[in-house]
Amino acid sequence: MTKKFFPILIMAMLLGTAQAAPVWITIDNDAAEHTKSHLGKSTQIFKSMNGITMMKIDEQDVPSLSHEMHHDFKRCGGFVAHDSKEDALATLSGESKRVFAKKNLFSDYSINQQDLVRPAVAMVKSSNISQTITKLQEFHNRYYQSQYGVDSQKYVKSKWASLIAARNDASVEFFQHSKWKQPSVVLTIKGSVSPDEVIIIGGHADSIAGYFGGSRNRAPGADDNASGISTITEVIRVLADSNYQPKKTLKFMGYAAEEVGLRGSKEIAQKMKSDGANILGVMQLDMTNYNGSDLDIVMMTDYTNSTQNEFIGNLIDEYVSGVSWGYDKCGYACSDHASWHNAGFPASMPFEAKKRDMNGNIHTSRDTISVSRNNASHAAKFAKMALSFVIELDR
Ligand code: BES
Ligand code: ZN
Repeated sequence: MTKKFFPILIMAMLLGTAQAAPVWITIDNDAAEHTKSHLGKSTQIFKSMNGITMMKIDEQDVPSLSHEMHHDFKRCGGFVAHDSKEDALATLSGESKRVFAKKNLFSDYSINQQDLVRPAVAMVKSSNISQTITKLQEFHNRYYQSQYGVDSQKYVKSKWASLIAARNDASVEFFQHSKWKQPSVVLTIKGSVSPDEVIIIGGHADSIAGYFGGSRNRAPGADDNASGISTITEVIRVLADSNYQPKKTLKFMGYAAEEVGLRGSKEIAQKMKSDGANILGVMQLDMTNYNGSDLDIVMMTDYTNSTQNEFIGNLIDEYVSGVSWGYDKCGYACSDHASWHNAGFPASMPFEAKKRDMNGNIHTSRDTISVSRNNASHAAKFAKMALSFVIELDR
């Protein structure tokens, strides 16, 4: 190529990207006409079949379509955006392998619930978190096949039940797994306006040390992951004590059997997927109390949703003052967020440090809260972040 044509090419490329690209969507028939009248002139209805309409819209109309579906149809993910015209056609004719369930394609990631979030964040007390970590690390281990692992979950369940005892919109249950002893624990606060829309905060409740004799080894698992469970416990406490009334359904989960292949969360995520659950967002809290990096909170980029990750970063900037955040990656499916991601739901995994700076005592008998000088000031940042996530998505 001669030098003369090079700038022209660059100009053409710039123009090409600046131009609005068309996006193929499929949407329920009832919403299609309404949608067409609200969107740009370039919107075209292509074909309707099986109660579904296929249409072409401008890329730049996608956010306003989301808005429309949410406010006029009280639907989240009431449409599906497709990678290609062929993919959209396949969905229309029912040939698609994709599950055409109500999918969580829409979340409003604007930040405007300051009046609710600020007072909630101010209620977080790190001493509550350190107390719960100390309790949990006292179980000999929390291994998925040991009685200790069952007893520790009974503790989590009764602790969470005590926090919501005064409410009639909340309950806490075991999720039993058929292949091992340890149950998962699930706390639900039912939404008062859109109970079908679900926001999930979870972490694994099991612990492990060594590869053999997992049932017998001492595995305090203070950071991995009593810290996450205790952070979640403080989030529940603040919501309960402030008598927060969610519009959507909030679920808090303590998964069994993460340390042996994400097995508890996988079962739960797959079940909710096959039940057609409309899950707006999932946050995984796994290791929150070791302050090992210059960054306070590190968003893992693999097996997570990048838009939601950025949203959480923005929430930190808005609500968790003085706390820095950035990105890193695990490099593999390192925790339960991957179970949700693989089931098609937007998941995030805000982590305690960059991977190379993480707590080196995990999976040993040395993983106790003394490593974090017996306090939970680092985990408290995660509780504030998680509260802002729940409240900002709940509208
Ligand atoms: N908390 C760890 C995950 C982790 C470790 C995240 C280090 C970031 C940095 C988790 O409990 C764990 O141990 N995961 C396993 C994988 C799992 C599929 C058994 C791991 O990392 O080896
Ligand atoms: Zn682990």
